[in-house]
Amino acid sequence: MFESILQRKYPNITLKPLTGGYTNLAYILEGMPQPLIAKISHAEQLDGVAELNCLYMIHDNPLTPRVFETFEEDGFRFMIMDYVAGINGQKILDQRDIERSEELFDQLGKHLATDIHRIRQVDINVHLPQLNLINCDLELLDYIPKALLKEAHALLNHQDMGEPVLVHGDYGPHNVIYTPNGLSVVDWEWSGWGSYLQDIAWVIWFVTLHYPGNAKQLSNTFLHAYRSHSDQPVSSDLIQIYAVSRVLQVMCRIIHANHDVKQEWIRRLKWTLEATF
Ligand SMILES: Nc1ncnc2c1ncn2[C@@H]1O[C@H](COP(=O)(O)OP(=O)(O)O)[C@@H](O)[C@H]1O
Ligand SMILES: [Mg+2]
Repeated sequence: MFESILQRKYPNITLKPLTGGYTNLAYILEGMPQPLIAKISHAEQLDGVAELNCLYMIHDNPLTPRVFETFEEDGFRFMIMDYVAGINGQKILDQRDIERSEELFDQLGKHLATDIHRIRQVDINVHLPQLNLINCDLELLDYIPKALLKEAHALLNHQDMGEPVLVHGDYGPHNVIYTPNGLSVVDWEWSGWGSYLQDIAWVIWFVTLHYPGNAKQLSNTFLHAYRSHSDQPVSSDLIQIYAVSRVLQVMCRIIHANHDVKQEWIRRLKWTLEATF
């Protein structure tokens, strides 16, 4: 169905499915004057609106692909964007290429501080979700064992750090395209206004969970680069608090997911509460 909608809209194109994403469907559109991709989401999904608002807000930032156009059909939103030729950052980690992984984490730190967190909510009148330490109604999380939820909740009883800045919300190697000219940051669906620590914690959490063997080295490289461009405080306790905040936010998004997915995130929440970052 998606393919026929795209073929009707852009006759004479060839469509190739794009792999590497976690949730949405995407295609590369070949045969247009410039290479484009189509990212498809449910029209009623608010994440897609946040992504669009955010991409339009930063459309002249060379760090992100430009949006070519968007349209809705049959209950789906089609976002047509420039195609960025390169490789997904997570592939570099999976290839165990340590030298390039270090360079990737150095650039992740630098761009986060200089191009993303420098955008302050007070300067810009664009509606994006407000990302607080507690982002959803914890009553919804009745699938989490009570004692565990209580422990997480207690940790989040902390003052939010810093003024609200642009938070990507799912920042990390899995959502950047590594090119010879630098990084391109994609997937702004979870973007919002909030603490700089939301993104920092997510990068450290992701690499510590998924790549424990290289986590210390890559986290240090990332934090060193971030701190070279920002004087905001970062500590291992703060990283843990904001990692729990992010994990609970994901857990609020999966209340309709199946049992195994929920169990996996309960395991991850436990792990986050016990980990040292
Ligand atoms: N404009 C783009 N150009 C090239 N590749 C892209 C582009 N946008 C996304 N991708 C690739 O597709 C993957 C999935 O897109 P993403 O926006 O992250 O969707 P999802 O929400 O499914 O994770 C990305 O991780 C990236 O590798
Ligand atoms: Mg993604």
